[in-house]
Amino acid sequence: MSYCIYTTKPISQTNKTEQIMAKLFLVSFLGLLIAAYGVAGNVVYDKFNILEDMDIVEEDTDFLESPSWTSEHGGKVLVNVDSFGAVGDGVSDDTQAFRKAWDTACSTRKSVLLVPPGRRYLVNATKFKGPCAERLIVQIDGTIVAPDEPKNWDPDLPRLWLDFSKLQGVAFQGKGVIDGSGSKWWAASCKKNKSNPCRGAPTALTIDSSSSIKVKGLTIQNSQLMNFVISKSEAVRVFGVKVTCPGDSPNTDGIHITKSTNVVLQDCKIGTGDDCISIVNGSSTIKMKRIYCGPGHGVSIGSLGEDNSVGIVTNVVLDTALLRETTNGVRIKTWQGGSGYVRGVRFENVRMEDVANPIIIDQFYCDSPTTCQNQTSAVQISQIVYRNISGTTKSKQAIKFACSNTVPCSNLVLSNVNLEKKDGTVETYCNSAQGFGYRLVHPSADCLSSHDKGSILIDWKDNAELTEPTEDHIIHTEL
Ligand SMILES: *[C@@H]1O[C@H](CO)[C@@H](O)[C@H](O)[C@H]1NC(C)=O
Ligand SMILES: *[C@@H]1O[C@H](CO)[C@@H](O)[C@H](O)[C@H]1NC(C)=O
Ligand SMILES: *[C@@H]1O[C@H](CO)[C@@H](O)[C@H](O)[C@H]1NC(C)=O
Ligand SMILES: *[C@@H]1O[C@H](CO)[C@@H](O)[C@H](O)[C@H]1NC(C)=O
Ligand SMILES: *[C@@H]1O[C@H](CO)[C@@H](O)[C@H](O)[C@H]1NC(C)=O
Repeated sequence: MSYCIYTTKPISQTNKTEQIMAKLFLVSFLGLLIAAYGVAGNVVYDKFNILEDMDIVEEDTDFLESPSWTSEHGGKVLVNVDSFGAVGDGVSDDTQAFRKAWDTACSTRKSVLLVPPGRRYLVNATKFKGPCAERLIVQIDGTIVAPDEPKNWDPDLPRLWLDFSKLQGVAFQGKGVIDGSGSKWWAASCKKNKSNPCRGAPTALTIDSSSSIKVKGLTIQNSQLMNFVISKSEAVRVFGVKVTCPGDSPNTDGIHITKSTNVVLQDCKIGTGDDCISIVNGSSTIKMKRIYCGPGHGVSIGSLGEDNSVGIVTNVVLDTALLRETTNGVRIKTWQGGSGYVRGVRFENVRMEDVANPIIIDQFYCDSPTTCQNQTSAVQISQIVYRNISGTTKSKQAIKFACSNTVPCSNLVLSNVNLEKKDGTVETYCNSAQGFGYRLVHPSADCLSSHDKGSILIDWKDNAELTEPTEDHIIHTEL
């Protein structure tokens, strides 16, 4: 069988050889094609082909790959922060220089806002607002550093440091570093010391309410809280971004995606103290490709459903990842009492090395000092595919599906999963989890409440029909 990673292909005729009892379905929430065979009364899912409907768009080479600001021919206008009085000694406050440079660059067509290499620019919490004139490039080659003292942080902007909003068609690129100087914030966190009050802290880099954004090559490190947040945005491409924070820095998610659609994260290396990547409410069509994570808490969908909220995340793919010594591998986490759904997720080609919970769905997530009671409502989890996931687990429960008692997980599919524990046995835990494994699945997926073929097929159909009417409609072919 062929895996089509970047192209959408029409469904080809499959399975010419054996007797085909079942039907061929295309569930295009993620283009999942299953042909089911009945063999000796048992259902064997022999063909399992996933068609990709999230193309990775070729990079606009003119836009990104050209030596942008040095180009003599591009007609670009260089806006160097140094020309606006930035000192770049790591001590002088360069905030005003950055604001003025932004205003100029933003209002000038084809401009390149340059943060030159070899210097450290101390910049306070700042909102860089669009919309801007077309073809703005933010070229960060030097280091932008945040003031390190939480007490002096601008009380009007308690949750952000560098915040870019309302942009369209902007590229952020360069070899530079965005450094949140977070150590005093971490020490003041209630996660570090229970006698500290639980307060928020700034996100180092935010891209908010924007579209057609590219971020390439930057390093984000030592954030006060989350490192890089993509919020209320669409068509965001992130390439070769590196995130570095200590493994014990609290709540320093690497890349956090919220209320955003059509986001691609590619070739990113993330080591941090919380989730390497977290995808939360209102996000759909998120593709992660070639991701390194560790240390960290893994790649997460959620948390969702906190305080009885609605959480909806659909159409997420993680393809090709290495997670090393993380506390989770691929995780979906929801609070009791929420509503909404997570649907259409594929984790594939993932290597785990000494990961504590390699495959986990946790619907009893409770990141709170007080215990969380079980409730009747829950975020509904369905159509989750785990394929080609191997490596070593630190915990016995290499696969854990802790689904809500009242709202079971459905259509969990595992294929070619092989997780071992050094000097120990591994097991799968299931609570209220329905689905099936096929081909090699170790530890075995037998605890999934298996359905006979008929009901699985009906479930696929039901789920597909719950989704959007046109594209997400099931295509139903009798063979
Ligand atoms: C900016 O940062 C400097 C250095 O930490 C600080 O002295 C100053 O008060 C800050 N200004 C604002 C407006 O926050
Ligand atoms: C926690 O904070 C309290 C009050 O600031 C302090 O006395 C205590 O030493 C701290 N504990 C640790 C482990 O840092
Ligand atoms: C989650 O997103 C949906 C729409 O996407 C929105 O209606 C809902 O208010 C959001 N929930 C929270 C907690 O933000
Ligand atoms: C399975 O995943 C691993 C780890 O990403 C990858 O190296 C390997 O090529 C994948 N195998 C197949 C058949 O795709
Ligand atoms: C909630 O339900 C789960 C699964 O049945 C159970 O393991 C857990 O102890 C329950 N939690 C509480 C607080 O009752």
